[in-house]
Amino acid sequence: MSSVQSMSADAIAGQRDVFIERFMQFASGTFSIFSIYIGDRLGLYRALAEGGPATSGELSERTNTHERYIREWLEQQTVAGILNVQNENHGSETRRFSLPPGHAEPLIECSSLNYVVPMAQLLVGAVRPLGSVLDVYRNGGGVSFDEYGADLREGQAAINYPAFWYQLPDEWLPAIPDVHARLQADLPARVADIGCGYGWSSLGMAKGYPKIHVDGFDLDAPSIERAKENAKRNRLADRVHFQVRDAGDPSLAGGYDLVTAFECLHDMNKPVEALKTMRRLTKKDGTVLIVDERVGDTFTARGNDVEWMMYGWSILHCLPVGMTDHNAAGTGTVMRADTLRKYATEAGFREVDILPIEHFFFRFYRLTP
Ligand SMILES: C[S@@+](CC[C@H](N)C(=O)[O-])C[C@H]1O[C@@H](n2cnc3c(N)ncnc32)[C@H](O)[C@@H]1O
Repeated sequence: MSSVQSMSADAIAGQRDVFIERFMQFASGTFSIFSIYIGDRLGLYRALAEGGPATSGELSERTNTHERYIREWLEQQTVAGILNVQNENHGSETRRFSLPPGHAEPLIECSSLNYVVPMAQLLVGAVRPLGSVLDVYRNGGGVSFDEYGADLREGQAAINYPAFWYQLPDEWLPAIPDVHARLQADLPARVADIGCGYGWSSLGMAKGYPKIHVDGFDLDAPSIERAKENAKRNRLADRVHFQVRDAGDPSLAGGYDLVTAFECLHDMNKPVEALKTMRRLTKKDGTVLIVDERVGDTFTARGNDVEWMMYGWSILHCLPVGMTDHNAAGTGTVMRADTLRKYATEAGFREVDILPIEHFFFRFYRLTP
């Protein structure tokens, strides 16, 4: 008997109503994300935090924006529970809105580990090529990283910046004692950072270990341009160099003490080729470190919140960008430990260890050549 046949009409109606309620929450949550994007991009949150509570007129003046739109946005933000209103019963033009103190860090403090607002920018980027995404769902193939545009690149860099700039050199690498010691040694260690995006992981390592030299590689030219600018702005361009290179490029060579890939292996069309490159780049006694998503070991129908989100990225972005080449592996964001072990074995690595470093989203893999 199917589950439908075994359910009473009342039970089906109850299930329908629960689902509709959830669906409405999804819809309002989605609107909230886009509204947060508007507030972030136009500097509205920052203006409220720095200038204090404001009416729509005052906020539009502070931010050089159009009052009528700002008034609607302020009211929407209040109803969504993102902003507070001080005088709810006043006329709409004299109501004064404020940023709750606990909302400032997630929305405007770009160095904080609690800075989540770039997620809104990432989500806007993720839906930018939705037409192309529908097309590949029908016909196969992939969507180029470039089609996702600047919002996706910038959101990605901004969401990982605090972790790469602070936690990577101050907590994660010191938690791997032999690597930490090698990076501190007088004989300057060489590090290769594959799929480096805007370069914050490469630069964070160089900031934390003042003797090392880092080469960052990424396939995306606009990302490498920004990485070079970030190196200059942080006075690290003498020790950190960036190049547009495919991780699978057989001509990539060099004896590196540490070879890293942060949140990018699952995006690569040919992860085994990339791992072969990483193995080839690593000195005999060197280390390969892969940092990728902290997903479960197996698929379960009710995965946790991290997996719920990772599947979201996967269906819209990571799988399509990882399917552009002929014979792409088609990994997707949910790269489980066994998948990585299989890729690593095919690439010639002897061992894959999961390191005991805690992070909400990331899992740390050490590969032994
Ligand atoms: C999700 S982003 C991560 C960027 C950066 N590591 C970070 O965590 O912010 C994935 C990156 O992998 C890069 N990438 C994808 N395939 C690549 C390949 N075959 N070779 C080099 N980089 C690649 C993309 O261009 C993109 O910058």
